Amino acid sequence: MSKIFKKDMTRREFVKKTSTAMVVTAASSMIPTFAIGGMAPVKVGVLLPFTGTYAKLGSHILDAMKMRIAQAGDKLGGRPVEYKVIDSEMNVPKSTQRINKLVKKEKVDFIVGPVHSGIGINMARMLKDKNVIAIVPNAGADQITGELCAPNIFRTSFSSWQTAYPAGPAMLKDGHKKVVLLYWNYAFGKQTAAAFTESFVAGGGEIVADMPTPFPKTEFQSYFTKVAALEPDAVFTFYSGGGAIKFMKDYAAAGLQGKIPLWGTFLTEGTAKAAGAASEGIKSTLHYSSELDNPTNIKFKADFKKTTGDDADVFAVQGYDAGSLLIQGLDGVKGDTDAKIDLQNAMRNVKIDSPRGMFTFSKANHPIQDIYLREVQGGVNKVIGVAAKALEDPAVGCKA
Ligand code: PHB
Repeated sequence: MSKIFKKDMTRREFVKKTSTAMVVTAASSMIPTFAIGGMAPVKVGVLLPFTGTYAKLGSHILDAMKMRIAQAGDKLGGRPVEYKVIDSEMNVPKSTQRINKLVKKEKVDFIVGPVHSGIGINMARMLKDKNVIAIVPNAGADQITGELCAPNIFRTSFSSWQTAYPAGPAMLKDGHKKVVLLYWNYAFGKQTAAAFTESFVAGGGEIVADMPTPFPKTEFQSYFTKVAALEPDAVFTFYSGGGAIKFMKDYAAAGLQGKIPLWGTFLTEGTAKAAGAASEGIKSTLHYSSELDNPTNIKFKADFKKTTGDDADVFAVQGYDAGSLLIQGLDGVKGDTDAKIDLQNAMRNVKIDSPRGMFTFSKANHPIQDIYLREVQGGVNKVIGVAAKALEDPAVGCKA
């Protein structure tokens, strides 16, 4: 139970009750420990990758969330904040014990995480309708706000479907009819490939080869040999983080850059600069671009660069927006984390002034957002169109 004012308690009632408690404590232990006005911190558990191919994603999410909360005076609903941070190591089996540790031992009010969809699905299963509120700042598995949706599960990022479905019509419009699929073979990659295939085939496109590759491995040469032999109009992919940089460099080294157009969702996000010339010309569909020129994004990019020394990317945006969701939700209940239903309703009804553009949440607690069409030009993801306006995830199976 949090040591904060109950909503319906006046300050005088609070002081009266707590002074009685203080007398009892003082009489039995002689240590007057209760400091009136000292509010217990809101406990925010964090489960993100800080090692491996998604390490940068995890640190950008956490850094940007902390930056956002620091900018609001390091308070949530008037209370201080305490972070309990665990490296997920992208390890799905170990995530059960790590989530239990945050919930049972650390007794957190919120869990912010994860990046990896396998862990996201496990977390949603474990926390559905429980007393802890989950904020997913990346993992895109459709189920999280689909069949596993719950009033206590929020997502500030995207779903597999939401980022990949708009790429089908966009590639057809560019004249690509025969496409090869290359993606990491786990939940998110598979759902990305399926959502793309759905819209692409419905529009008259053909998948000439479906080539999942083992996650998180980065030996791509044999796949590129097959691509060269198949001579498709284009390749559609899902790779991200460190693996995406290697993919782009190897694609160029295999002589395929400029010959067979490369598309993706996250391929060039936070990776275009590191991949250098190998990323030029790659197109993607995503809910953010560093090149968006709204004032929130301009300030956010400058603040993030100053705070971390890094360029902002979509992962930082998702962490920043998780911070905004915490701030606005807790302000709505004046920091009373025990008022769970009111808190969840306050969170569901916020409008987030995001660097990606203003967004609201669907009934499944998932962002309704624009999906941009981007192309790497001069090392950055330039916005060359809007692939889908105010796109809502269909939330298949969600009973909310
Ligand atoms: C995921 O596993 O859901 C995932 C990971 C990295 C991304 C996007 C999605 O860039």
